[in-house]
Amino acid sequence: MPIPTKPTLVVPIALGVVVTGAYVTLRLAGARRCALTTTVVLTGSSGAVGRHLVAALERSRWRLRLFDRVPFPGPTDPTDEVVVAELEDEAALRAALGGADAVVHLAGLSTTGYAWSDYQRVNVDGTRRVLEAALAAGCSRVVLASSHHVTGRTPLSASTRLAEDDPFRPDTDYGASKAAAETLGRLYHDRHGLEVVCLRIGSFRERPTEWRHRWSWLSPGDLTRVVEASLDAPSPGFVVVWAVSANRDAITSSAGAEAIGYRPLDDAADYGVDGLSGSDLGRLYVGGDFCAEGVDGPATTR
Ligand SMILES: NC(=O)c1ccc[n+]([C@@H]2O[C@H](COP(=O)([O-])OP(=O)(O)OC[C@H]3O[C@@H](n4cnc5c(N)ncnc54)[C@H](O)[C@@H]3O)[C@@H](O)[C@H]2O)c1
Repeated sequence: MPIPTKPTLVVPIALGVVVTGAYVTLRLAGARRCALTTTVVLTGSSGAVGRHLVAALERSRWRLRLFDRVPFPGPTDPTDEVVVAELEDEAALRAALGGADAVVHLAGLSTTGYAWSDYQRVNVDGTRRVLEAALAAGCSRVVLASSHHVTGRTPLSASTRLAEDDPFRPDTDYGASKAAAETLGRLYHDRHGLEVVCLRIGSFRERPTEWRHRWSWLSPGDLTRVVEASLDAPSPGFVVVWAVSANRDAITSSAGAEAIGYRPLDDAADYGVDGLSGSDLGRLYVGGDFCAEGVDGPATTR
């Protein structure tokens, strides 16, 4: 059984712009609340992952509320609600989650190169704020965008296998902030009963471009599938899922994926090896270039 949706009235909402404090909500003409759809807040909707989901998620199933500090860079569906606000704006966040069934929390600093205080404010405190807002709003399911960089310092060898419950081995402050976000998800499940799905995203790309993508690639189609599975799973409780495609060269456990019914279809190996690039670090460590000396160097690949 998917997440039970909250019964809501079917009311057409007129075109309008609501300005409340520091944030702006755009409600577009023809928007409807419908009891047959699940209302999902997508934080970080203007980023690479968010933009794909906004384009791909079927609106007959999912009613979307987009939340990002920057406006959505393109057209949205007429049923979408768009909130331009910072994660740091607690009131805006709580308002955005009001009446929602689930939140897919993508917003965050997604590369290396920031100060720890920034990761703490956005990735750690921001995630905690999302979890608090979900509790306050009665939004029972939170899908957290985590990363393979929570275990990026794991050396790669022919026998490397990454399980969902291996101890964290982050490669950077970024990876440590994602480990903290997963830990907060665990806490809010155990303490408050929130359903929390942590998606350890590999490398989301149109197609594999580096050697390490042979195991880490997450295709656009599989991204949609893993997010839909996270929202559809009957009772996930707290679960960590390796969000990668069905790569022949996988090194990640599929136990979490199976627990939520995620069945990936794409395989990096189908693209061959021509044109694959990447530094030696990509062959030595799970986190690839994130393991470069200097710890948090300039922004590199994700
Ligand atoms: N793309 C990947 O391959 C990959 C891999 C592993 C993990 N992830 C994680 O998935 C999530 C999405 O990744 P992405 O590639 O779309 O990242 P991205 O950097 O393209 O997008 C992040 C979005 O979050 C928004 N944001 C940042 N700080 C914010 C704040 N304080 N308040 C509101 N919005 C804020 C940004 O405006 C941006 O639109 C991130 O949390 C990232 O760490 C992505």
